[in-house]
Amino acid sequence: MKKITRRSFMAAAGLTVAALALTACGGSSSTASSAAASSVASSAAASSEAASAAATELTTVEAGKLTMATNAAFPPYEMTTDAGEFEGIDIETAQAIADKLGLELQIDDMDFDAALLSVQQGKADIVMAGVTVTDERKAVMDFSDSYATGIQSIIVPEGSDIASPDDLAGKKIGTQRGTTGYIYCSDDFGDENVVAYDDGLTAVQALNNGQVDAVVIDNAPAKEFVAANPGLVILDTSYAEEDYAIGVAKGSSLKDAVNAALEELKADGTLQSIVDKYITAE
Ligand code: ARG
Repeated sequence: MKKITRRSFMAAAGLTVAALALTACGGSSSTASSAAASSVASSAAASSEAASAAATELTTVEAGKLTMATNAAFPPYEMTTDAGEFEGIDIETAQAIADKLGLELQIDDMDFDAALLSVQQGKADIVMAGVTVTDERKAVMDFSDSYATGIQSIIVPEGSDIASPDDLAGKKIGTQRGTTGYIYCSDDFGDENVVAYDDGLTAVQALNNGQVDAVVIDNAPAKEFVAANPGLVILDTSYAEEDYAIGVAKGSSLKDAVNAALEELKADGTLQSIVDKYITAE
């Protein structure tokens, strides 16, 4: 379908930008990154030492802290409890990474598009918000290794005549501003047919009120929103498949340290147990 054509175009365009970016910011191999990289190979105890050794050489936005920009309205990756606390897969994973790096986790909650900008502007060390890796984003920031896969799903009211992604043509589509759902839909179906809301829940409420015909959003939050809103269903056919990763500033030495920590969290089962806590296998 159309999407395929557009995506290969994006890949081709991305190449040129990536090549330019490479020239612009070579030489990110610092002592910190090699220490962090070597920690992957060592035993758990030795490696957390290596990771904190790396951390002492890491420059962060605020000394001693790992500042994470997020949009805590995206369950089960990041959400805000009634008591105003942050929780979710990204929050706990970031905490585990900060622990390994010997840094205190500082969470800054903001709109999703602002969270993406925050690392680019040096206001946050990482953006962790179920962020999809795309070529366009790779042109303006660096990404860690992927820690999860995402799927763009389509939510419709029960009995809708929309049964597949192609049926979205000519419909009003609700999305969250700045997300891949917004970007793909405006590319595929035209800007004028896509409404950008502050967050996913607001888009779902608009669907409930009949202001849009469908919502395109990541599958995990889609499931939570649908469970809480009777009368809505998720189409079986997904719209796009994606990788989630942690975004850092271009050329940041944090990337290697974060990757080393992630690698350990994957290897020792911590990441999986965090995921299992929030997503029950079907
Ligand atoms: N995966 C999508 C993207 O990267 C949506 C992420 C939205 N995340 C959030 N915390 N609101 O564009």
